[in-house]
Amino acid sequence: MRRKVSVIGAGNVGATLAQYIAMSGLANVTLYDIVDGMPQGKALDMLEATPLWDVSVQVTGTNDLTDIRDSDIVVITAGAARKPGMSRDDLLNINASVIGSVSSTIKEVCPEAIVIVVTNPMDVMAQLCWQETGFDSTRVMGMGGVLDSSRFRTFVAEKLGVSVQDVEALVLGGHGDQMVPMPRFTTVRGVSITELLSEEEIESLIERTRNGGAEIVSLLKTGSAYYAPAASTFQMVKSILLDEKRLLPAAAYLNGEYGVKGLYVGVPVILGKAGVEKIVELPLTEKEKEGFSRSVEAVSTLLESLKK
Ligand code: NAI
Ligand code: 2OP
Repeated sequence: MRRKVSVIGAGNVGATLAQYIAMSGLANVTLYDIVDGMPQGKALDMLEATPLWDVSVQVTGTNDLTDIRDSDIVVITAGAARKPGMSRDDLLNINASVIGSVSSTIKEVCPEAIVIVVTNPMDVMAQLCWQETGFDSTRVMGMGGVLDSSRFRTFVAEKLGVSVQDVEALVLGGHGDQMVPMPRFTTVRGVSITELLSEEEIESLIERTRNGGAEIVSLLKTGSAYYAPAASTFQMVKSILLDEKRLLPAAAYLNGEYGVKGLYVGVPVILGKAGVEKIVELPLTEKEKEGFSRSVEAVSTLLESLKK
């Protein structure tokens, strides 16, 4: 039987992700939103494209959340997105109630699902989803690091005049302004960029990566990025569906790893059919540890402010 992926929130990220999944032919897709008729319209439009994409998948739109029943993977993109002048953190209270309500339905109708949280502020929303579903933490994760790393890869490739395909990058920490791009683990065909660029050049690429989301918001004016976020989420979905065991940065529940206990934050993980199958602990320098701690502190402070 074909696998089922449900996408909660049929806005820019959700609908684009649904399209990528449908086009891949890897799974049937159920697209849910609270706006009457909108997920149905987008799903039907995609379904009518499947003959041209040469795939046999079902794409279904719904306003009934229980239609996500028995999904293998559920992706949460529901909630408000950033507008100019807003940080990801400004979305905290608006989106927390959305995550709370959808998570309790996920628990009820898809007790075996793996959940990927995209809604911002993502690390805290992943933590809320994990708390609300009561799922094993290996089955709840957040998408942020793949996107931030893809942005870093793009900027490094542009700066060096090489193909993005030859650049690997790693961004750790929370998906917020304190994220931690890791130059030592960012390479061109295996050569660290610390060998290829000056400190000033690397610092400016790091700054652009940290501001990558805001740069798009300031151009779009009415919302935030969605093509790269959807492509990043698709990479995670695919690694789970095909048990690829990709090593990707994702928000995962830390239980002592990296010296952090009881918090979702971005770290390298191995993603396979069981979800987060392993958290990979990298040896960090003192400077890297400081950056990571600052980012953990920012996520932790945000989580605390939600509890108040
Ligand atoms: P959007 O505004 O285009 O779509 C959000 C959708 O959620 C809307 O269609 C809205 O009707 C729906 N929605 C609101 N409340 C809902 C509920 N209770 N149940 C179901 N649907 C509901 O926003 P966009 O651009 O798709 O972004 C979605 C979220 O993802 C935002 O919070 C955004 O900040 C976040 N995001 C996170 C990224 C990451 O790297 N983690 C990257 C890009 C976006
Ligand atoms: C981004 O990084 C807004 O989190 C979103 O584009």
